[in-house]
This record gives sequence, structure tokens and C-alpha cells, in this order.
Amino acid sequence: MIYEIPDGVCMTEGLRLAKLVVYGCQMNERDSETIAGYLGKAGYALTEDERGADLVLYLTCCVRGNAEDRALGNLGQAKRLKKARPGLKVGICGCMAQEGWVREALGGRLSWIDLAFGTHNIHRLPELLARLDSGERVVEVWDFPQEVVEDLPVLRKDPLKAFVNITYGCDNFCTYCIVPYVRGRERSRGVKEIEAECVEAAGSGVKDITLLGQNVNAYGKGLAPADGLERPDFPYLLGVLDEALPEGIRLRFTTSHPRFVDDRMIEAVASLKKVCEQYHLPVQAGSDKVLGMMNRGYTASGYLAMLDRVRKAVPGCAVTSDIMVGFPGETEEDFLDTLAVVEEARFDAAFTFVYSPRKGTAAEAMPGQVPEEEKKDRIKRLIDLQNRISLSVNRGLVGKVEEVMAEGPSEKDPGMWSGRTRTNKMVHWPETGVAPGRLVRVRIERARTFVLHGTREDRT
Ligand code: SAH
Ligand code: SF4
Ligand code: F3S
Repeated sequence: MIYEIPDGVCMTEGLRLAKLVVYGCQMNERDSETIAGYLGKAGYALTEDERGADLVLYLTCCVRGNAEDRALGNLGQAKRLKKARPGLKVGICGCMAQEGWVREALGGRLSWIDLAFGTHNIHRLPELLARLDSGERVVEVWDFPQEVVEDLPVLRKDPLKAFVNITYGCDNFCTYCIVPYVRGRERSRGVKEIEAECVEAAGSGVKDITLLGQNVNAYGKGLAPADGLERPDFPYLLGVLDEALPEGIRLRFTTSHPRFVDDRMIEAVASLKKVCEQYHLPVQAGSDKVLGMMNRGYTASGYLAMLDRVRKAVPGCAVTSDIMVGFPGETEEDFLDTLAVVEEARFDAAFTFVYSPRKGTAAEAMPGQVPEEEKKDRIKRLIDLQNRISLSVNRGLVGKVEEVMAEGPSEKDPGMWSGRTRTNKMVHWPETGVAPGRLVRVRIERARTFVLHGTREDRT
């Protein structure tokens, strides 16, 4: 019902409104900022309220079935809204738009959709939007990416934080994962282009930059030699950015693949001042049999040994992870191996997932699909364990003083301010009106599973 236009919604003549609905990972978050940039250039203002929108665009994710189902559910609602207001244009883009069955459906049961484009042709938006304006139905999805396209516009959501792509796509083909199929082969942006985007972001007031890629530490494939290196690699890029960026900037990166963590990378993270003490290192599973079937390229003991090296070099560093349960063939024993690795790794936090078969991936056809009930039971046990560990790790911070970057009022209690540590942990403290981006020192007094509480140490 919320999609019915209520009396009194005023449509300002000449001003067009677009609502952008974003699902999925940081890649999509970053793409949404480029798309918002193009929409702005085409004369659209962004709105949160689809009831007054001229265009609703869904930037979709298909990494798991539930992400896809959510998008399909919302598309159904948009279809009803469009029936009530035929002038409304509805579009779909992002990873789902690359999937074969969606492309087929765009000629069938999704043929009411006005605009569709994929992950490889976002830069074509100016032309696609113009064609849409002239009354055309526009469906343009490319099978493959072309060379990396530069000089894309950007309308950043958060004045403090920027995502900067360093690689696109993925070559790893983990057997459960659809990302390489919908994002294409791995491509790296040039060092100069990345540096320019980071420096521009910092110049416009951004204080926290996250370098993005499915596999950031494989950065550099296909690039020309630089500075005596056969090709620029991830540690080299970190060094260049650390030098180019002004003081006070925090530099992060995600996701690193455990298989590509090497001593040069560890050393770069340890020695470069602006690079924060934070790694996201998805372990996925703890059984060597399952890791092998996933094509992850490491064993559980190899992973733990790598973690040891990371933590020795960067004391106090936070490590987060992605963990999956119910991969085909995962037995109770395999799952217990996962719990054992989680117990030993003591991650600060982890994203936990139930395996979801994805069309066209190798694992979809594997025997031994795990029953839903079993998956539910395993994910619950995994989350219970990880929550206990997160709480215990956070409790270890009680009494310590952390450098916190102020963000704004706490969502739950406007009398409290919130911000993040260098390790990206959320901290609340009693105060108001601290300028976003300001670095303050907070003594941690209480720890919860997902948040820390403390008081300012540096107030005069
Ligand atoms: N490139 C990153 C993350 C990609 S997707 C990496 O390699 O770690 C984010 C997470 O989603 C993955 O780490 C994995 O844990 C999860 N995931 C991917 N495909 C999945 C599937 N088919 N079912 C359940 N979880 C999945
Ligand atoms: Fe998917 Fe594996 Fe690539 Fe990550 S590294 S995006 S999990 S194929
Ligand atoms: Fe989803 Fe695409 Fe990211 S499938 S997880 S939005 S790369």
C-alpha cells in the first residue's frame, strides 16, 4: 500500500526525481555513487520516497538467493506502483542484470521494465537515459567488460568516507560464487588514476578511504612495469597512497584473499601510518576437504599460520572474516572443523552465510547438498560462537584508549556521539556536537558484541 500516491504529493514541474535502491556489497555501493553522478548530470535529483519518483532504479545483487528474492519482491511492488502511475519508469541494473535468466526474462515476464543495464556498461548511462527520455524502452547488457573506463562521475553518499575501486571483477572462481560471472575477469586500475581519485576525495573533505576489490591483494595484474617492479602490486600501491595522501587520512582495503597475503603486504600494512590496522580475511570454512572443494587455495592450518604472521607484524590489528555453512558435502565433522578454526582465529567479527546454490557455478551441481534444517542449525551454532568471541575480544579493549574518528549522534541515543576506531569498531561516548571527522581519544569502559562505550580522555 505504501506505493499508492497519497493526496497532496506535489510533483514539481521540471524537477525529476529518481530513487536508487541499492542491494549487495560495497562494489554496488560504489557503483551507486557513479550512477547517482550520472543521474544528477541527466537532471535527476535523488529521492528516498518512491511515491514521488519519476524513475526507480534497482541496483541488484545475486550473490545469494535471498538477495535476489528481495530484489524480485521489490520489483513486484514497483510493477504495481507503475500500474497506478503509468508514467513511472522502472529500471534494473547491477549483478542480477548480468544473469542469463534475468536477461531472458526481460524479454518475457520482466518486459514491463523500462530500463536495464549491466555491471560492464554503467558508463553508457548518459546515452541510455537520453534514449529512455525519448520514450524508448532501453535494455543493454554487455557480456564482457571492455578496458577499465576512467573519469566516471561520482556523487558520494557520505562526506567522510569514500570507496575507491582498485580492481574490478574476479578471477578466482570459488566454486560457490557467482561474482566472476556477473562482474567479469579481474582488471586493475592504474596507480595514477587511483591516486588521483584518493587525493581528490581527501581534498573534498573525505577522511576515511576504503580501497575496493573482490581481491585487492591480487592488484596489478596486466599493468605495465613501474618503479623497478615488474608490475605495480598491492604493497606498492599502498606505499604510493600513503605518501600522496594528507595527514589524518585513514586508508583501508577490502577484500583481501588469504591466498594472496604475503610478507610484503603484511610489512606494508604494518609500516604505513595511514593504513589502518584492519584486515578482512574471509576463511569461508575450516575443513580442508571443504576448502579444497571450494577452490580457496589454502588449508585451515595455512590460513591460521598466515593470521599469526599478520598479527605478529601488526599488534592490535582487527581481523574480520566471512564464513559459510552448508557447502555441498559439508558433514557435521567438517562443520566442527569450521567451529574449531573460528575458535582459534578469534575474529573480531564475522559475516556468516548459509550456502546458497547459484546457477552456473560449479558447486550447484555438486552432490551432497545439505538439508535446510541442518544449515539452519549450523549457522545458529556458528553465530553463537562468533558472538561470544566478538564480545570477549571487545572486552579485551576495556581500559584502553582508542583514537576515534567522530561521525555523528548515536542512532539510539542522541545524547551520545559515535565514531570509529582505526580498527573500524563503533564507539559511543556521552557528548554532542563533535565535528564529523574529528579525531578524539576515548577510554573504553564497556564492551558489547558489536559496539564499545567509553568517555573522552582528551577534553580540556
Ligand atoms: N571477494 C570476496 C567476497 C565476495 S562475496 C571474497 O572472496 O571473500 C562475499 C561473501 O559472500 C563471500 O566471502 C562468501 O562468504 C559469501 N558467498 C559468496 N557466494 C555465496 C553463496 N553461493 N552462498 C552463500 N554465501 C556466499
Ligand atoms: Fe567470489 Fe571467490 Fe572471487 Fe571472492 S574470491 S568474489 S568468493 S570467486
Ligand atoms: Fe552481490 Fe554483485 Fe557484490 S553479486 S555481493 S553486489 S559483486
